[in-house]
Amino acid sequence: MNISVSEIGDINGTLAIPSLEGLDDTLTRLRISSDSNTPVLRGASNSTRAMVKNMITREDFTAKAGQTISILGGDQKVILVGMGDKDELDQKEARDGGAKFLVGLDKVHGKQLTIRFAGRWTRAMMAAFVEGMVLRDYKYDKYLSKDEDEDEDEDEEYAMNVQCLSKDVEAISLACDDIRNIASGVHLARDLGNAPPNDLYPMAYAEQALEWVKGKKRMKVSVIDWEGILEAGMGGLENVGKGSERKPCMVIFEMNKPRGKSNPPVIVGKGITFDTGGISLKPGAAMDEMKYDMHGSATVFGLMEALYGTGHAGHVVGITCMAENMPSSNAYRPGDVIPTYSGKTIEVLNTDAEGRNVLADGLWKAGEFNPEYIIDLATLTGACVVALGHEASGLWSNDDELLEKIRKTAASVDELAWPMPLLPAFEKEMTSSKIADVKNLGGRYGGSNTAAAFLKQFVPKNGEGKDAEQYPWAHLDIAGTAWGAKSNAMVAHGATGIHVRTLHKLITQQ
Ligand code: BES
Ligand code: MN
Ligand code: ZN
Repeated sequence: MNISVSEIGDINGTLAIPSLEGLDDTLTRLRISSDSNTPVLRGASNSTRAMVKNMITREDFTAKAGQTISILGGDQKVILVGMGDKDELDQKEARDGGAKFLVGLDKVHGKQLTIRFAGRWTRAMMAAFVEGMVLRDYKYDKYLSKDEDEDEDEDEEYAMNVQCLSKDVEAISLACDDIRNIASGVHLARDLGNAPPNDLYPMAYAEQALEWVKGKKRMKVSVIDWEGILEAGMGGLENVGKGSERKPCMVIFEMNKPRGKSNPPVIVGKGITFDTGGISLKPGAAMDEMKYDMHGSATVFGLMEALYGTGHAGHVVGITCMAENMPSSNAYRPGDVIPTYSGKTIEVLNTDAEGRNVLADGLWKAGEFNPEYIIDLATLTGACVVALGHEASGLWSNDDELLEKIRKTAASVDELAWPMPLLPAFEKEMTSSKIADVKNLGGRYGGSNTAAAFLKQFVPKNGEGKDAEQYPWAHLDIAGTAWGAKSNAMVAHGATGIHVRTLHKLITQQ
């Protein structure tokens, strides 16, 4: 989508008017005023003006939420988009409204639109509407054969000219720049998530990251490949990945590394490019969805794109733990005891609890960057989907302040993260192995909590000795939100790009 922002001027293509109902707004003025030169209809022909005024005077269009009317017969095409009462409209509704508006667009409306807001829209609400349009404007059609000329019009990009009062132009333009750049990160995360697992394997992700970083200033990508993993003793990644022909790797993004000391946020992503369960093989039903098991790593990559695009100046690190979990004669087994980068050993009781094994190495690696805080994202447990459905990610933290900050930020961008308990009893359960430091499987109940408690065993400390404390750390279980959320108006289907916007806002808002 191509967005431009300008003062109210010529009408290009179809005129779309997202409208708020209520007294004393533009609609009312349109109805009662003899002055027909209201800004939202400037440049409209007499017949268009008459038709729109008629729709409003007869109360065929009242701007109630969800009401959309297309006026197509005249010399100009108009869409009236009802957004409901302004006092009830919040940012989520404005964003959802933009997304729904985009979905409702039809071939007859064409690809060029002029958007003018009627009623008392705040800048934030106008921006949210635009954001909804941009986020929803996404297709994953890379693998679809194209019918030579037939679909050419369909593929054309939308050109949206947002027209507002001159006093708002600068602010809305700036907001649109951010929206564009952040959405580019969200869409990149979706592309990675949707990519089929035969093409997106661990080193393919690494190569894409190396390709992406070319020409980007103050941005670095480094890859710890199979040899590097063996050398470093990253036993979590090694063991989960060794059953696959396509070997595991760790990809590290680092932006704006300063000369001196710093304490960057470090974001760690689970990147299982396909999760068969390994020797503890998963049942066949819907196993294809396990291509999304790398969405944590997709979010990290998308976040880097968003931060780079918006010109974030701070030091930020992203770490992704990439592996394919396959059954084979080389695969790790239930019963194995494996070493990890931290030095702690894991008793593997189920090879399908592989995400935590690779994250053990990623979290420990994060400690080498003197982090301000560490946040990991992982499609970690089916149990989290049982607990929260597709409506919220699970959120665990060893630091109440960090938890609250993430919770608030996530809610403000409508990517809910729901606090879950990190109880000592769960930690005890996961450290009760008779033969290793940690076991990778808890009991039947509270599976997402025991998984979080496992991860906590690998959160590094800010020093040696007994006074040392764990770095502030939070874990987001995105098993329910990475795909399949029907209530998410920003996505048609497939990967959602979840938490790119949350983390971008969290990191840049200081
Ligand atoms: N990637 C899965 C979790 C998952 C399952 C995410 C379904 C989304 C939908 C993870 O690796 C896994 O298999 N977890 C197991 C853990 C269990 C063996 C303790 C699970 O949830 O069943
Ligand atoms: Mn698994
Ligand atoms: Zn998994």
